[in-house]
Amino acid sequence: MGELSEVPVGVLISGSGTNLQALLDACAEPDSPAKIAVVISNRPGVYGLERAREAGVPTVVAPHRDHPDRRTYDAHLVSTLRAHHVQWVALAGFMRLVTSTLLDAFPQRVLNIHPSLLPAFPGLDAQGQANAYGTTVAGATVHLVDEGMDHGPILAQGVVPAEPGEPVETLKQRILQMEHRLFPMVLRWAVEGRIQTEGRLARIDLPPGQRRWLI
Ligand code: GAR
Repeated sequence: MGELSEVPVGVLISGSGTNLQALLDACAEPDSPAKIAVVISNRPGVYGLERAREAGVPTVVAPHRDHPDRRTYDAHLVSTLRAHHVQWVALAGFMRLVTSTLLDAFPQRVLNIHPSLLPAFPGLDAQGQANAYGTTVAGATVHLVDEGMDHGPILAQGVVPAEPGEPVETLKQRILQMEHRLFPMVLRWAVEGRIQTEGRLARIDLPPGQRRWLI
């Protein structure tokens, strides 16, 4: 795939950026149809910014506290993303709710990864919630973002075993490994134009041999 046809993607982060790293690595492959055009963090000094710099990707620190409300903040995100010609947005550990100001600018083009098998355990500390509940499987979900929290149409899910009573950190790491497989796969489907939605159901024109779930 030549550089001209690579679809520019913006990645929003708040932290260490291991999912960002998985996306950067996938986009560095010679046949990648996507390229990361900008990485935006709402928190300064996070390790994800360093990962982006190492990969030669432009970074922007956009502290949400610099803006009076969510919409003004999201308008700032939109102008930053547009300045980098972004066509798809990936929330990779971006711990903020987004508003229609962002979603209307990128309709059905904002992806999020969440560390649970949605609709179970939306919100903060999903892995801790699953662990405390005693589930025997856990996992991760990539979905299109809407205004609800961890709510939009599900695109793909990855399942991992969970041991009731295990340390939550081991569960977190197991889910994270799954996230790193899942997110690049779905981003590729997205930029290849394989995703359509009907209400809250997504239809995906899957590449041969691929499925919407991983184990
Ligand atoms: C990931 O586990 C991601 O699924 C989660 O934050 C972590 C970020 O890790 N996101 C959410 O909980 C969103 N609701 P990373 O910075 O190493 O990619």
